[in-house]
Amino acid sequence: MSGPCAQKDDMAFVRKNMLETDLAVFVTPLYYFGLSAQMKMVIDRFYSFNGALTARGLKSVLLAAAWNTDDWTMKDIKSHYMTLCSYLNFRNQGMVLGTGCGTPAMTKRTQFPQEAYELGKRIGG
Ligand SMILES: Cc1cc2nc3c(=O)[nH]c(=O)nc-3n(C[C@H](O)[C@H](O)[C@H](O)COP(=O)(O)O)c2cc1C
Repeated sequence: MSGPCAQKDDMAFVRKNMLETDLAVFVTPLYYFGLSAQMKMVIDRFYSFNGALTARGLKSVLLAAAWNTDDWTMKDIKSHYMTLCSYLNFRNQGMVLGTGCGTPAMTKRTQFPQEAYELGKRIGG
């Protein structure tokens, strides 16, 4: 399905950029072990240009932050993201799944900012 979206709002900006960029970076806090509703709402709006988006074979990355540190914390968001990649024909370039990142101060004490930096460098270079 592809066509102009019936809603006239900021999604026109997102759509234009998703259809022109080489890389989409999905950045979200973990809310109830999934994507935030805000992130999900943007993804739901892809529906009006699914065909054009899928045809692009876009590179993508997931950056997520969570309070928990259990090893299963990121299980479902990771699985959902990978399923979206399969469906939308995105080429996953990597994920930074920041557990123990409940606040900016907590995040600074982890290895995840460095991991994100390394990932960016790897993709950019
Ligand atoms: C509504 C809500 C739900 C959350 N759910 C989870 C969760 O399921 N697992 C978890 O580890 N952290 C959870 N957190 C913590 C956030 O993922 C974490 O604090 C994040 O860094 C907050 O980012 P933000 O300041 O952009 O909201 C939740 C926080 C909020 C506000």
